[in-house]
Amino acid sequence: MDTRRNSFRGSIGFVLAAAGSAVGLGNIWRFPYLAARDGGGTFLIVYIILAVTFGFTLLITEVSIGRKTRQSPLTAYGKLHRKWKGLGAVACLIPMIILPYYCAIGGWVVKYFFLYAFGDWKGAAAEDYFSSYISGDVEPLIMLFLFLAMVAFIVARGVNKGIEASSRILMPILVLLVVVIAVFSLTISHTEPDGTNRTGLQGLGIYLIPDFSGMTPGRFGSILLDATGQLFFSLSVAMGIMITYGSYVPEDASIRTSVNQIEIFDTVIALLAGAMIIPAVYAFAGAEGMEASGPGLMFEALPRVFSAMGGIGKFVGLLFFAMVLFAALTSAISIMEAVVSSLMDRFGISRTRAIAINVVIAVVAGGLVCAGYNHLYFELPLPTGATAQVLDIMDYISNNILMPLVAVGTCILIGWVLKPKTVIDEVQKNGEAMPRRNLYVLMIKFVAPVMLVVLFLKSLGVM
Ligand code: ALA
Repeated sequence: MDTRRNSFRGSIGFVLAAAGSAVGLGNIWRFPYLAARDGGGTFLIVYIILAVTFGFTLLITEVSIGRKTRQSPLTAYGKLHRKWKGLGAVACLIPMIILPYYCAIGGWVVKYFFLYAFGDWKGAAAEDYFSSYISGDVEPLIMLFLFLAMVAFIVARGVNKGIEASSRILMPILVLLVVVIAVFSLTISHTEPDGTNRTGLQGLGIYLIPDFSGMTPGRFGSILLDATGQLFFSLSVAMGIMITYGSYVPEDASIRTSVNQIEIFDTVIALLAGAMIIPAVYAFAGAEGMEASGPGLMFEALPRVFSAMGGIGKFVGLLFFAMVLFAALTSAISIMEAVVSSLMDRFGISRTRAIAINVVIAVVAGGLVCAGYNHLYFELPLPTGATAQVLDIMDYISNNILMPLVAVGTCILIGWVLKPKTVIDEVQKNGEAMPRRNLYVLMIKFVAPVMLVVLFLKSLGVM
């Protein structure tokens, strides 16, 4: 074991940092719209069942690989098995691809935060405000750089003073903001000029009550796959991150308790994000207003909701974008750390030099992402049916192709080549029993790989 390797000061530091990584843009904009689209409570039930089976399996595996090898992804797989080095290279490539576009979106969040703090916040409700902003030449790049600089600054301070310390401050504030905004959202009552009244509580009903109408095996299959893909991204698994953070877990910390806490944290925040966004959008824009997805929901539908709230909208919008900024920052920090730590472990270079390399890559690739909305604009159909620009292509390559491949590879390596005992022994090292042990073996050997292969084939448009 490399005794000089950094480690989190304790389980709480690890749990907050890992939860900070998990809770990100995925929870806040993707989870609510998937829930709204996929039958509300039906999606929630499927998601929760998957979280305690599939999510638990992948998360506990990655954290254990990290702690056992004390390496980040680029070298961890090779340390487990000489012939599996290549999987580590792919696992390290994923955060390299994600960081530039995550920072581009982070830059949009910074812009909206400034807008609500100091600017013409009502202007953000205009029809084409968002599309004309992101197609600008200079400002999106400056904002991307600002966001990236904040991330690099924290990562440069190291595991304890940077990652752990920032999570200890930002995560409690984030939870508080999510709860305050969700409670506010539930108390909304809005009356249209024609007298139609809608309340946040009615929106909560749409969100929570399962809607089985029109449920066919095919539709259930799509809900299952949507929930699997979402869980994957949301828990930050198969991106090298949890291996990296696992490599900083102290020897005496309980992996079992930590993994449970991270899962609960991530799932509760995702559920609350839905309770925060769906009731507000429903009250002000009705059921059709909830159809906006991804960027449309966060940067178009919600600003219209804030504007319709009147004066208080500025304050609610400011709290909302502050919360999104914190969530995006703590996730981007973990994405950069997975790359930086990999470069340090593999090439023995300093943290500063590794950050410099990653920043150069992120600026160049992030520049391409921004250019994708103006000079480089094109519309490329993807096998998933979506139309893609540069950002979507990078997202597709990392999330739909490389992440399922890394996850299947990890399941085969642990389930069949090294055997589940590798992970079980690491979890039980301090005399604690492995939770859901039989379920774990079943999941890692059979269920998870099959689900991942199906997800992969679906992404390729084969199914
Ligand atoms: N898990 C992070 C998110 O959900 C990457 O945004």
